Amino acid sequence: MSTTINNNAHTETSPDPDNGYRKYSIGRFDFERDEYFARIKCPTGTHVVDIENFLRSMMRDVAWGFFYGWVNFDEVIGTVNHYGSVDLYMGTYNNAYREAGTNYEERFDSQNLLACFKSILKDWTNEGFDPFAAPLETGTARGPKNGNNDAAVDFQRELADRFVTLPGDSEMRTNERGFPVNRQFSDVDQEEPEVHPEPGFEGEIASFNLFKYLSRSPVTWNPSIVSIVKNSAYCPTSEEHILPIDHGNDRVEWFIQLSDEISWRVGDKDSGAPRAVVTMKAGDVSCMPADIRHKGFSPKRSMLLVWENLTPGLELRYSSGELPPVPAEF
Ligand SMILES: [Fe+2]
Repeated sequence: MSTTINNNAHTETSPDPDNGYRKYSIGRFDFERDEYFARIKCPTGTHVVDIENFLRSMMRDVAWGFFYGWVNFDEVIGTVNHYGSVDLYMGTYNNAYREAGTNYEERFDSQNLLACFKSILKDWTNEGFDPFAAPLETGTARGPKNGNNDAAVDFQRELADRFVTLPGDSEMRTNERGFPVNRQFSDVDQEEPEVHPEPGFEGEIASFNLFKYLSRSPVTWNPSIVSIVKNSAYCPTSEEHILPIDHGNDRVEWFIQLSDEISWRVGDKDSGAPRAVVTMKAGDVSCMPADIRHKGFSPKRSMLLVWENLTPGLELRYSSGELPPVPAEF
């Protein structure tokens, strides 16, 4: 694969007179939408995606800054993060495309591709559709251009600098965000724990009700970071319906199911070939290996703690084979 970085910014057309949407190009990729579908074109072909699935995937890729490793929008298109540059591909991690020689990818400066994706997301998201929301909690993205929903597409996930509630953490405060308890978490205790530090430790000991925080999350499949200890990050999130993307790990990743149930469909990272179905119930812990892709299905809203290792360069130690793809071998 070529590792030449295309440093050109994207271009966009004026709104289409028929449906009101702009068309976008970056490198040799073109993006256009109609009332039902997004259409992605590259020199080897055209890929058609349901517009709501496309916008939900695009929302995660943008909000997470391309995340770790692979963000597969579906089995054909997606991005790979090289942390400074990013590959946009069609069919590169799909065996049928590769065997047919119809895979295509280009590497872009991360900021340029992010700017392109943000513009698409803003223009193609209609008033009343929130790509972060569960399908039962939002309107539709279908139809001709109808306003926008910048408040939704500009939603920032919360990133703590220290443990939440300690002096110097982020602005995240479980009490002060003002979000109501989600309809499916009405039974979650809203009491905050009492903290009684010994004199002299007032600024070092803290506690908050994580279940209360998650019960009020207005978004789905969007991990916040509530604690950082060196490179260890606790990223809890509330989930409902389907993780829009198929995340391809470039490192191992731990899941702790805090409530309810999620089924994970796990496939080979490079080919997409099915490898496992993992059903996690409250209290279950699993480790997603570094050589898989995974997609979650949550039949009702559930709470998931994702434990990430942010050590720089870890992706190279896994991809070179220095580290095995699993955390322990039995
Ligand atoms: Fe993952």
